[in-house]
Amino acid sequence: MSLFVKKPMSSLLSEADDSGKGLKRTLGAGSLIALGIGAIIGAGLFVRTAAAAGGHAGSAVTISFIIAAIGCAFAGLCYAEFASIIPIAGSAYTYAYATMGELVAWIIGWALILEYALGAATVSIAWSEFLNNLMGGSIPYEWCHSPFESALDAAGVLHHGIINAPALLILVLLTLLLIKGTQESAIVNAIIVIVKVAIVILFIFLGWAYIKGANHTPYMIPATQPDAMQPDGTPYSYAGFFNHGWGGVLKGAAIVFFAFIGFDAVSTAAQEAKNPKRDMPIGILGSLAICTVLYILFSWVLTGVAPFTDFVKAGKEASVAYAIQTYMHEYAWLAKLVTVGILAGFSSVILVMLMGQSRVFYTMSSDGLLPKAFSDLHPKFRTPYKSNMILFVFVGLFAAFVPGSVAGDLTSIGTLLAFVLVCFGIIILRKTDPDLKRPFKTPLVPLVPILGILVCTAMIVSLWGTTLLSAFGWMIFGLLVYFGYSKKNSKLQNKQ
Ligand code: ALA
Repeated sequence: MSLFVKKPMSSLLSEADDSGKGLKRTLGAGSLIALGIGAIIGAGLFVRTAAAAGGHAGSAVTISFIIAAIGCAFAGLCYAEFASIIPIAGSAYTYAYATMGELVAWIIGWALILEYALGAATVSIAWSEFLNNLMGGSIPYEWCHSPFESALDAAGVLHHGIINAPALLILVLLTLLLIKGTQESAIVNAIIVIVKVAIVILFIFLGWAYIKGANHTPYMIPATQPDAMQPDGTPYSYAGFFNHGWGGVLKGAAIVFFAFIGFDAVSTAAQEAKNPKRDMPIGILGSLAICTVLYILFSWVLTGVAPFTDFVKAGKEASVAYAIQTYMHEYAWLAKLVTVGILAGFSSVILVMLMGQSRVFYTMSSDGLLPKAFSDLHPKFRTPYKSNMILFVFVGLFAAFVPGSVAGDLTSIGTLLAFVLVCFGIIILRKTDPDLKRPFKTPLVPLVPILGILVCTAMIVSLWGTTLLSAFGWMIFGLLVYFGYSKKNSKLQNKQ
């Protein structure tokens, strides 16, 4: 039995046509773009922009966004070709199964768990933080933090976290919505998208008048930048390679890359798209393009309104509300509204991530690589309800007991790895199956996929350190599962 057995394109295409008993085809191009934006705009923009600017890129975080967007655009073009050819729910996992064989497909599927499941956990933790913020910090520390976190309160009393209950609450609500139906979920998502895009545009529009040229000068952080004080009183040094100049801009790109994660989630809904061949590329590339423009303008305004060093000292997670309250006094009322909008925005990110993950599991289980429960559909709603429930337990454990900072970078690495492999996949498919009907063609192959591989690998390298080690550990664990369970149960392997 070969580790590189490939799923024949003909069987994939017949699965795609088999919509009578599988997932329902309910989504049009507009819903797909909304699904993309729903997953894209979230903690990356509202939390990580400030972190990248404050610690690494300064106001040149706008260039960081452009670099991350270029990497995503190259990968997005490759995703669009695949999604138009193989409109199946498994996304990158399925593309790899057809082009690089089962083992690589498994590796991607396993990396996608980092992206979607861990992504959902990360954003639910941020959701909990913002909720607490909105409620004036009235949720007791113990009930909204993981057991690995502790902090002193104003009276000097040390508190330890027990469980992150609000994160669990939002996960359970969204899981129930997903079980109820894809179309219902898409409607809720579309409403949230309108609210959060409006918030971003409002901030750009109103904040523009408060931009101070001095805050954008010098544009990148100079090597001579003095240390900034952190809230705990320790100095933050800009001396390291990744903490100023172009190195800082690159590190900033790796940090804000998180903000783009999600456009690929559109491809996991391929089996629920009414006209996937036409609408998949529109959904993937359309949502990416809209968000890129918004991100560049948003980061330009945020770093123009507040000096980047503020984001080391203060303002951290609540950077937008902070900038409004501190520098845009006339609009102080807006700060609360922005926080509500951001909370809603996070919800749609979690929703689409959970949906994407359950669809990847659905496909892996249909192929026999995961237990059958992951592909059982609800008799009435035709959603993978058992998968949604198992996922809730898994994501919930992370969200309830693991600190948010640990989960974020791991999510990015998992996603970047999937992007690199999808780019490889396009080069391979052009060689192995040159005559395949391609409703959407990635331009300039192999240049575009090669550039995608280079930019995404550069971002992986700049996330070097313990995160990369954890990702490596996760992948080794995945291989154990593959050789212990999946290879033996693979339908393709057993057919041979
Ligand atoms: N792109 C998503 C976010 O920023 C994951 O929250």
